[in-house]
Amino acid sequence: MNILLASSELFPFSKTGGLADMVAALARALAHAGHEARVVTPLYRGIREKFPALRKVDWYFDLPLGLKSVQAELWELDAARGLKIYFVDHPGYFNRAGIYLENHFNYADNAERFVFFSKCVIHLARYLPWRPDVVHVHDWQTALVPALILQQKNEGWGSPPPTCLTIHNLAYQGVFPAEAFALTNLPADYFAPDGVGAEFFGLLNCLKAGIAYADFITTVSPRYAREITTEEFGCGLDGLLRRRQKQLVGILNGVDYGEWNTTKNPHLVQAYSVGRLAGKKVNKAELQKYFNLPADPATPLFGTISRLAEQKGMDIQLGALAEMLNSRLQFVLLGSGSPEYERGYLELARHFPGKVAVRFGYDETLAHRIEAGCDFFLMPSRFEPCGLNQMYSLRYGTIPIVRATGGLDDSVIDWTQNPRLATGIKFSEYTARSLAKAIRKALVLFSQTKLFDNCRRNAMRADFSWEKTVHNYLDAYQQCANPKKPQKLTV
Ligand code: ADP
Ligand code: GLC
Repeated sequence: MNILLASSELFPFSKTGGLADMVAALARALAHAGHEARVVTPLYRGIREKFPALRKVDWYFDLPLGLKSVQAELWELDAARGLKIYFVDHPGYFNRAGIYLENHFNYADNAERFVFFSKCVIHLARYLPWRPDVVHVHDWQTALVPALILQQKNEGWGSPPPTCLTIHNLAYQGVFPAEAFALTNLPADYFAPDGVGAEFFGLLNCLKAGIAYADFITTVSPRYAREITTEEFGCGLDGLLRRRQKQLVGILNGVDYGEWNTTKNPHLVQAYSVGRLAGKKVNKAELQKYFNLPADPATPLFGTISRLAEQKGMDIQLGALAEMLNSRLQFVLLGSGSPEYERGYLELARHFPGKVAVRFGYDETLAHRIEAGCDFFLMPSRFEPCGLNQMYSLRYGTIPIVRATGGLDDSVIDWTQNPRLATGIKFSEYTARSLAKAIRKALVLFSQTKLFDNCRRNAMRADFSWEKTVHNYLDAYQQCANPKKPQKLTV
């Protein structure tokens, strides 16, 4: 198949979270499976300098954006295995210090930036000499594409490709004042408040438009696919999602083990594997030194790498750590996000010197080193569509402690439920006390070498490779093209 993927983030060119990893890995897996995948993404600041192999394409196009006409330029890069990447260049929109925000504030023109990007995606799908069989869009930033394609069909685009939308996080919907709708140049009935358009309580909701108009919808774990059809997790869109349930499927993300591995990884101090664990001890000692913590192999080391956001359970983590840090344990954090949580962790580090160390900012190498050097990885998310860090932790032999929600529940086998097959520790209740209890269990596990080694072996052998999962996306693409599905929904 010819598949055009569109994403506002793509590793290694741009990344704020798992979206970048997932789209890059899926594209690679599709190419590896013999399909022709191409990806379109914005040309953010610094990409050209970091990747000098990018070539300018001799193709400019002007696109209507409300009353304006805005010009885009295009760059391309041939990546491994025939994968081609297109970069949409508009210095005013994309040559900025951040991807979505700066100094904790979203850019005021994010609607304009990503409506423009969505229109560029469609322009490529329609006018490239290479014709996609499906256009696969990701999250709110490109979720207007299905509605925009439908409109172009109504205006004479003979047989446009079907569209697939992947929801990576329902909590981010791209909601903007109603005036932003004019940027789409769509007829007003796409905004009609009938429950199935772009309108959401009088506002423009990009993700909602995607859910309404995409031919098929996926999300990133089976459990999250069920959760988002409930009021508790539906973020106001559960009703629409229930209506589209027949075209909604949850596919657990895979891991790109070419990037996330412990045997051939330039970020790690020493390589190790399930059969040769000595290197993990060296990584632990080095990490302790890096964070100025006593390099004691017998002290269990817990770690977290995370956006510091409400979703990630930072409030209960701070509470649980405060309760548990009188025990013999160490904790390290790499995170960026809310200043309020940053203050919380700084406070914790001040209270427990020699036990807690934190780094704020974004650091790819340190992320790998934390995964490799820790004994346990904490991920107590309030909700988690999939979560990649717990899967990385498994491969790195770092036992994940997770809340049983979304993809965390789908990817970890709990020690108390099945001690023989266990890969981690799960807890259910969203409270600091429950998390503290899970940490206590981890301390017990750590003290029982045989059980701990067994759990670690299971974890390292768990296989979430994309090779195993990519056929699910191919099935989804087939579903997109299935003419039996309803074109337009009725309320
Ligand atoms: P989410 O996408 O919701 O943030 P995931 O677990 O799916 O959560 O993916 C997070 C990705 O971002 C992982 O690859 C993780 O290592 C990375 N990451 C998060 N915060 C940082 C950081 N401060 N520095 C480096 N990498 C980070
Ligand atoms: C989102 C979700 C995360 C998921 C990632 C990649 O950022 O929050 O759970 O792993 O997308 O799909």
